[in-house]
Amino acid sequence: MKVNIKRNGKVQSYEVPGKDSAVTIMQALDYIYEHLDHTLAYYRHSACGQGICGRCVVRADGKSVLACTAKIEPDTETLLLEPAGSNLVRDLITEN
Ligand code: FES
Repeated sequence: MKVNIKRNGKVQSYEVPGKDSAVTIMQALDYIYEHLDHTLAYYRHSACGQGICGRCVVRADGKSVLACTAKIEPDTETLLLEPAGSNLVRDLITEN
């Protein structure tokens, strides 16, 4: 699938391999960070990752979701991720 990420006012595209089952947005971001672009900034809380702290919020196709719990369905062809919140720190990280 193609994951488009709005960074610094521009949209950057990444090709993330499809899976047989749904993956979370966080797993897709981890793949991009580990395999495609080490400069991508997104919120990752290793002690949470279960929808508890609420800090990994992003906008996915216009809807605010928690990246660690929101699933991307396997048949998704394109997904647009944008920072959620008004105080942009960098890429997908905002200070709310
Ligand atoms: S990492 Fe805490 S809610 Fe997602």
